[in-house]
Amino acid sequence: MGLYPEIQRKAQEELDRIVGPNRLPEFSDYDDLIYVQAIALESMRWMMVLPLGVPHRVTRDDEYKGFFIPAGSTIIVNAWSILHDPDVFPEPENFKPERFIKDGRLDPSVRNPLEYAFGFGRRVCPGRHLSSASLFMTIASVLHTLKINPAEDEDGNLFDGSTMLAAGLAAGPNRVPCSASPRSADAEHLIRVWCSMDQEEQ
Ligand code: HEM
Repeated sequence: MGLYPEIQRKAQEELDRIVGPNRLPEFSDYDDLIYVQAIALESMRWMMVLPLGVPHRVTRDDEYKGFFIPAGSTIIVNAWSILHDPDVFPEPENFKPERFIKDGRLDPSVRNPLEYAFGFGRRVCPGRHLSSASLFMTIASVLHTLKINPAEDEDGNLFDGSTMLAAGLAAGPNRVPCSASPRSADAEHLIRVWCSMDQEEQ
């Protein structure tokens, strides 16, 4: 969000309209928060957590589109490539939640990142629903209450963190300097109430 202030602004406009200033987002808001849903989908596509999934081993001889795959072969699915195919996702390196929206609704004809980011078949990630719901709620709650401010270098240029990925099985931004501040007095109140409820529960 620090890199894309206009996208942050659009999400906050939607949150203001649907949720309003007096409460935090809830799962009952899910169907109405189309733009927030699209941000979550684009996050899973743009800088996916496991770009090459998890390797699988073929237990018996197989064939795929004329390729013979002998038993014992290791198969690595390039999910990154599937979700950065420019024919399916124009300008794939750019973060564009709009690519998932048509006529104000999520467009079911666009390839769904959630069908590729969590692996495939019998060993597909069992945490995918928990993870997707948590991601949606985290994005909604953070953007509802906080403004994320992009960091600038000493010359005043916006810091470009978009291509800086930490290497490894799991990928993620190396370091994204940014700051966050309450969007308004109402937002600060919501954060303080939520924090005190959290402490009471502990
Ligand atoms: C954004 C978050 C997550 C991503 C991108 C992710 C992705 C994946 C992927 C790609 C696999 C390998 C699937 C395959 O073998 O093809 C996997 C497996 C697994 N994930 Fe996740 N996962 C996430 C969150 C979670 C969460 C929150 C949980 C638990 C609550 C979880 C539990 C597991 C388990 C237990 C497996 C192993 C399944 C098996 O081998 O049978 N994951 N995940």
